[in-house]
Parts: sequence; structure tokens; C-alpha cells
Amino acid sequence: MENVFVMDHPLIQHKISMLRDINTGTNEFRRLVEEIGILMGYEALRDLPTEEVDITTPIEKCKAAMISGKKLAVIPVLRAGLGMVNSILTLVPSAKVGHIGLYRDPVTHEPHEYYCKLPESIGDRIAVVVDPMLATGGSASAAVDFIKQKGGKNIKFMCIIAAPVGLEKLRKDHPDIQIYIGHMDRELNENAYICPGLGDAGDRIFGTK
Ligand code: PRP
Ligand code: URA
Repeated sequence: MENVFVMDHPLIQHKISMLRDINTGTNEFRRLVEEIGILMGYEALRDLPTEEVDITTPIEKCKAAMISGKKLAVIPVLRAGLGMVNSILTLVPSAKVGHIGLYRDPVTHEPHEYYCKLPESIGDRIAVVVDPMLATGGSASAAVDFIKQKGGKNIKFMCIIAAPVGLEKLRKDHPDIQIYIGHMDRELNENAYICPGLGDAGDRIFGTK
């Protein structure tokens, strides 16, 4: 599928299985989300442009590759996306951080915005939107809408677990973005939770339930 990248690395799969476990506590859950985010970020940033620069090693002068020009913004969808911010900052410490606050209405499952603050000149940056869960796709699609409204053009979306219906919606609404998925799950249940999933990602990261 064009622009969709589903991870198959055993380390990522192993850590996602540990995340799913109902017996995994808040501390370990948070650590695993961050680790998975680093492993996925490594893949998602594979196409960063590089340029040759002059370097002097202890032996001689040489040309060597460095990441060029393009600046990065990591944009978590609140709350659960916050768990993946440090993953990207570990890889690219100079990245700026934007925030998009969305919650799903418990009855309609429609996303509601309560906060949006993005770095300046978002159009000149690669925007990496992070949220562990892609369920109906409403939140992810709305988040990408906001970024595009503010001028964002080069957008990647990274999630740990996706449901087929959510992926379909995000691809249909935003065929131009690249989507990175840790694992494709089976379906949504009647409450629009991903099955088998891992439960409520925000609650498990922040220990609110
Ligand atoms: C969760 C999750 C996504 C959204 C996915 O957030 O982190 O943002 O649901 O569902 P969707 O694809 O059907 O829109 P939630 O609304 O529970 O908010 P929270 O992170 O603050 O708990
Ligand atoms: N949000 C979550 O946190 N989990 C799901 O399964 C669906 C939406």
C-alpha cells in the first residue's frame, strides 16, 4: 500500500506484545511506548535528506554525510501522543514540539479539539504526528487537517496500533501523508476500541484508571 509502512521488526513486535498485557503497569507501559517510538522513528526518518560536509578526523580531512536543511517538528496528539515525543527528540534533539489537543466524544466517538499550538513556519518542516492509537481515524485525520490549515505540507503520522477502518479513513482523507504503523489489529469493538488492542492508551500512560 503506497505511503503505508507496517513495522515487522521482531523487537517492535515483542515490545508491542508486552504493551498489550493487562499486567503491564504504568511505569513499564510508558517506557515501552517510548522505546517503540524510538525504533519506529528510526524507520520513519529513513528518508531524511543528507548532504556532504567537510570533516577532519584524527587521521585526515574527508567528506561525510550530515542531515541537511529540513527541520523537524514532532506533534503529539494529546494526551497519549505525549508518550512518543521523547522518542523523536532522542533521535533529533533539535526538533521543535507542537501540540494538538483532541478527545473522542465517548458516545459519538467524534474528535473534539481543545488545543492547538504548532511551531512557526510549519510549512518548512517535516511534521511527525505521533499518537499510539489509530482507531476510527477521526483524531488522526483532524490533527493532520489542523497542520495543513497552518501550512504543513510534509507530514508523517506514526502510531503503535491501527485498526483497518482507521487506516482507511486516514488514507482517504490524506493520501499525501506517510503512515507508519507498529501493528495492524483486527477490528474495532462497539465502543470503538481496538481489538485486541491495549485498552485506553492515555489512561495506561498516565495511570488515570
Ligand atoms: C485516543 C488516542 C487517539 C484516539 C484514537 O485518545 O490516543 O488520539 O483516541 O481514536 P480515533 O482514531 O477513534 O479518533 P482519547 O480521545 O482517548 O484521548 P486521551 O489520549 O486524552 O485519552
Ligand atoms: N483510543 C485508545 O486509547 N484505545 C483504543 O483502543 C481506541 C482509541
